[in-house]
Amino acid sequence: MTMKIMIGKDYADMSRKAAHVVSATVTLHPDCVLGLATGSTPIGMYQQLIKWYEAGDLSFETVQSVNLDEYVGLGAESDQSYRYFMNENLFNHININPTHTSVPNGLAADISAECERYDRHIDELGGVDLQVLGIGNNGHIGFNEPSEVFEKRTNHVHLAQKTIEANARFFTSIDEVPKSAVTMGIKSIMQAKAILLLASGEGKKEIMEAALFGPITPKVPASILQLHPNLIVAGDEAALSLVTKNHPELF
Ligand code: F6R
Repeated sequence: MTMKIMIGKDYADMSRKAAHVVSATVTLHPDCVLGLATGSTPIGMYQQLIKWYEAGDLSFETVQSVNLDEYVGLGAESDQSYRYFMNENLFNHININPTHTSVPNGLAADISAECERYDRHIDELGGVDLQVLGIGNNGHIGFNEPSEVFEKRTNHVHLAQKTIEANARFFTSIDEVPKSAVTMGIKSIMQAKAILLLASGEGKKEIMEAALFGPITPKVPASILQLHPNLIVAGDEAALSLVTKNHPELF
């Protein structure tokens, strides 16, 4: 197993450690392809990257990005869309070329054609160099929900009830949470040259243990990451508390 685990003492520390990994990738490979995630976990990491950009330590001028997922039915104008999130939390504050940023189009008239287009785009870019991931409480990565099989390609998914409930905190009511999304598939994620998995908080401790050390099964989509040759985990002490307790030999 080639897994590097970085433990931050708290969220801010974890976010800085994760930002160092992104920064190193961008510095060594200025024209790299970053796979990016939304959700609450990467926000601190994005804020740190913005600070380094503002200080003149980091440039995104020739970086390309592809995001993991987008809600079906929401566009860039909607403040709940993942495109809006990325613009607000990162892209508008750094010197990335907007035409170099990609998020699946949740408003596409033909969603299955959009899934195919997205895969072609990733292929044309030559794949992802560093894929940033958060993890759902149920082990989802992107919006690849627990299932009987690993979906390989970008696909249209119906969100698990648990995910709808978890994401309701970003909406005024649970009824407003879209019921489906477009997500990059497991194959594009696993073909990334490196993966940076982020997790923060007590609520993620069981799933982190299951994902990193449990059986590899599509019922816990993140468990496939155990097979990745270059997996970097950045978590805070709370999210990694079961991992450190059950596998003391690793630390
Ligand atoms: C976001 C994404 C999701 C989140 C996951 C964790 O683009 O694909 O898989 O990473 O739901 O979300 P947070 O970070 O809010 O706990």
